[in-house]
Amino acid sequence: MKTTVLIFALLSSLSMTVSASTDWPPETLTYRPSELPGYALVRQHCLTCHSAHYVTYQPRSPRTYWDATVKKMKYTFGAPLDDKDIPAMVDYLTQTYGSPSR
Ligand code: HEC
Repeated sequence: MKTTVLIFALLSSLSMTVSASTDWPPETLTYRPSELPGYALVRQHCLTCHSAHYVTYQPRSPRTYWDATVKKMKYTFGAPLDDKDIPAMVDYLTQTYGSPSR
């Protein structure tokens, strides 16, 4: 009987630890939905190494920043990105997380 209580206590403290460590606001975990064709490409290619936090926590930056970042993912970090998909992904990132006017 004592053992059951102990196991229960252990399990509930374990599940508390797990939920505490994944307590991120949901909108930062994945990419913001969009009609732009780059949305699907970004979801397909930009969640394999890290979550969308890396993108959602960037300051609103101009297109040149997103272009350089996507290319860095490809050429520095080895992301398997097709060159023809890059402009659409940069469009989506600039419209959604950037400052498109600059
Ligand atoms: C091959 C693995 C990989 C893929 C795929 C990948 N990234 Fe990254 N990304 C990284 C690594 C490694 C870092 C640097 C992590 C660090 O500095 O701690 C990073 C960092 C970032 C950062 C933080 C800023 C910076 O310059 O370091 C952003 C923004 C980012 N990635 C966006 C993207 C986007 C957008 C895509 C899709 C086009 C993408 N990543 C796909 C590996 C990847």
